[in-house]
Amino acid sequence: MSKVVFETEDEEEVKVDKDWKPRILAFLCNWCSYAGADLAGVSRIQYPATVRVVRVPCTGRINPFFILKALTDGWDGVVVSGCHPGDCHYISGNLVARRRFALLNELLEFFGIEPGRVNFMWASAAEGERFAVLIEKATERVKKLGPNKRFLKKW
Ligand code: FES
Repeated sequence: MSKVVFETEDEEEVKVDKDWKPRILAFLCNWCSYAGADLAGVSRIQYPATVRVVRVPCTGRINPFFILKALTDGWDGVVVSGCHPGDCHYISGNLVARRRFALLNELLEFFGIEPGRVNFMWASAAEGERFAVLIEKATERVKKLGPNKRFLKKW
């Protein structure tokens, strides 16, 4: 069985099975991305089965602590997806979220979380195929980073 090797902060080698699939938690806006994910499903468009969805009313509802909690709970990656700018059903929730997540990205970098472990994207209800492609890309990004160990809470 071939192995992929990742370097960690401690210069310690972490060996990961090439068949390893990252567990990703996706926060999806009810009005756009959740419906897009549903469309992908009913259209039988394949996307990684290791993604678990949390439906939220709007990306503006997502507290950055939800993302930090997901990472400390051991999820390998997080996806946040909502309506395209200008399409938010609560007028500016996604714009607020975009600003919030720009700041969160800097905080995550400060904490040592690799860019690519948390992904933000837009997908409308009519973009089932786009949703599947973006989830596939996010999964590939997280897979390259390896398992989330840096931020995992150890009890
Ligand atoms: S309603 Fe979809 S992001 Fe606000």
